[in-house]
Amino acid sequence: MDIEEVRSRFAKHFNGSKGQVYASPGRINLIGEHTDYNGGFVFPGAVEQGMVAEVKPNGTRTIRAYSIDLKDYDEFDLDDEKGPKASHFRYIFGVAREMMKLGVEVGGFDTAFAGDVPLGAGMSSSAALESCFAFALNDLFGQNKVSKMDLAKVGQATEHIYLGLNCGIMDQFASVHGKAGQLMRLDCRSGEFEYFPFNPKGYKLVLVNSCVKHELVGSPYNDRRKSCENVVAAINKKFGTKAETLRDCTWEQIEAVKGDCSEVDIRRANFVMGEKDRVLAVCEALEKGDYETVGQKMYETHTGLSKDYEVSCEELDFLNDVAKACGVTGSRIMGGGFGGCTINLVKDKLYDKFTQTAVEKFEQKYGKKPVIIPVVIGDGARKLA
Ligand code: GLA
Repeated sequence: MDIEEVRSRFAKHFNGSKGQVYASPGRINLIGEHTDYNGGFVFPGAVEQGMVAEVKPNGTRTIRAYSIDLKDYDEFDLDDEKGPKASHFRYIFGVAREMMKLGVEVGGFDTAFAGDVPLGAGMSSSAALESCFAFALNDLFGQNKVSKMDLAKVGQATEHIYLGLNCGIMDQFASVHGKAGQLMRLDCRSGEFEYFPFNPKGYKLVLVNSCVKHELVGSPYNDRRKSCENVVAAINKKFGTKAETLRDCTWEQIEAVKGDCSEVDIRRANFVMGEKDRVLAVCEALEKGDYETVGQKMYETHTGLSKDYEVSCEELDFLNDVAKACGVTGSRIMGGGFGGCTINLVKDKLYDKFTQTAVEKFEQKYGKKPVIIPVVIGDGARKLA
């Protein structure tokens, strides 16, 4: 996103004034899907695409916000619980309110914002928006006292309370903590994480966006989470344990409550257990430079997300098949599911053939072109100017 464009739109809307400019990215996830809200591991990295916002305190209790991409303007009061209707403004309102809960004396502000994370691609444009404002408000009103992890939690709480999506922490975590060239392995139970330099020699990561609109708010995402919680509750009942998430449970315990839960819930819980182990296996393989194993685990994840967790769709399964037929090392649906992208680990020498074939075959079958998005691992939330 071009800062000068944001600057000129801001000046136009707010009487020639000038604020501070902040940015926060979207993310990819190499492996570890639907594990975050189950206390498992995830392995994301920030991307270069993100959200840019110019923000200036205005000395009132009102937020005046202009979405450059949607050409939409609204004003809403910080103290009016209802907040704005449109979701792009609710993210900003939610973040401001959640920052206030942390003791930050947020005042009214003017803002213009724009982004280049493709919407509905499963690259977390909403987390980019939330993290951008959490970071900005911490800087402008909170003397940067709120920790990065708490900024990520502000974004997550915004999704839960203001949008009704009971997401995990992965997207906001990645948007806030990202570093160029590095993936991060996060243990979602303890909050501990490690940076992993990611520069696979001879391979590239590329996303293929099916352009099937992925919208998690209002999707069966919350049902998936509920399935996992049902199994945990059944285990606690049977064993008198106090497991908080599937991370605290064992395969044997899941097997033991088969008769107490639906077949669907058990299948989903088993996927999550396997996915948690796959993240660890991928980290180990990466340390050894064993990209074949990384790729194989990615395919396993795809099959699990498609057949057991049931968050894929026909177009994504098709793209996965095309990748396999081309000899791509690893490929899978990325993010929450129900549309969006596949993430592919491709040998350099196969890159052109694969991307061309994916576009051609997809267009032949569905009458529209998927979008190829090369992955560049970028920096997390920051002040630009
Ligand atoms: C969405 C959610 C994340 C995570 C992924 C699936 O991106 O926001 O918290 O659950 O789906 O891994």
